[in-house]
Amino acid sequence: MSAPVLVTGGAGYVGASAVRALAAAGRRVVVLDDLSTGTRAHLRWGTFVEGDAGDPALVGRVCREHGVGAVLHFAAKTSVEASVGDPDGYFRANVVTTSHLVRAARDAGVRAIVFSSSAAVYGTPRALPIPEDHPLEPESPYGATKAEAERVLAEGGVPAACLRYFNAAGAEPDAGLCERHDPETHLIPRALDAAARGSTLRVFGGDWPTADGTCVRDYVHVADLATAHLAALAHLERGGRGGAWNLGTGRGASVREVVGAVERATGRPVRVEVVPRRRGDPVALVADPRRAERDLGWRATARSTLDAIVADAFTGWRTVAAETAAAGGGPRP
Ligand code: UFG
Repeated sequence: MSAPVLVTGGAGYVGASAVRALAAAGRRVVVLDDLSTGTRAHLRWGTFVEGDAGDPALVGRVCREHGVGAVLHFAAKTSVEASVGDPDGYFRANVVTTSHLVRAARDAGVRAIVFSSSAAVYGTPRALPIPEDHPLEPESPYGATKAEAERVLAEGGVPAACLRYFNAAGAEPDAGLCERHDPETHLIPRALDAAARGSTLRVFGGDWPTADGTCVRDYVHVADLATAHLAALAHLERGGRGGAWNLGTGRGASVREVVGAVERATGRPVRVEVVPRRRGDPVALVADPRRAERDLGWRATARSTLDAIVADAFTGWRTVAAETAAAGGGPRP
């Protein structure tokens, strides 16, 4: 039987979907999460340990106690926008934590690490789609911390797969898994909010050099990201080399196209106000996903088409809105 897997940040948005996929594949899972941004409702599989992924004594003890053989490392701060105002906090959470984690895991006999990296490591691309050997020129402190954590992992003494997510989106509402960020900064949940509540979505910049003047991103379904982690883990466990892999679809969608998909899914118009560009935003990010297909046998499925993503996100959004209303936190949509 395969060794248990430690999942840091397993109560979070992408981490919880990966935990679900691991459990479905029959893997034993230990979730380590400090619940600073994670959700208790996501703790549905495996053993839960509440604590800090950057605490080497705790990580070492958990790895030894459970005989952990591999780590999926999701625990991190994740907002491009917030990182601009708190670069030191982002460095501690994303780089120092990773450094402590990898050393503790290595000393406890862990033989594989799969890391949540980001397309934010590339900065403004020189050409699209972006291959993994594109220079790393991050434009936000967030992207810089992910690039630095990749370097830490490359030298950490444990084979590591760095998965550079493009825009994680969608939900797995059948398992109660959905985006529950507070505050919510991401486009799709904000656009759903605007449609359902009749509020205004602020679009950050209408004068970008793109077809409709708004930023372009490569949205990939969270369930597809989860299976990519299993594929990367299998690659390392069969002796494959570490490295970096893009996780995206290879297709870009503009902010206005996302708004159109939200209007189709909800059947309601989205009121839009174009405001100045947001600091740290690159104009367009679209993956060249071929390396992941070649090395890991992974590619995005039909769930990652924009309409399918937004439909799942809307179901998830309604779940969260109903929970919030039940807790007295706001109107039911
Ligand atoms: N946007 C708006 N209005 C909003 C929110 C977002 O116009 O209210 C725009 C942004 O400017 C951007 C696009 O919608 O052009 C997507 O923004 P998100 O905040 O949803 O996502 P980001 O592209 O900023 O960042 C996400 C993840 C990062 C990751 C990055 C990689 O949050 O962790 O994708 O592509 F690094």
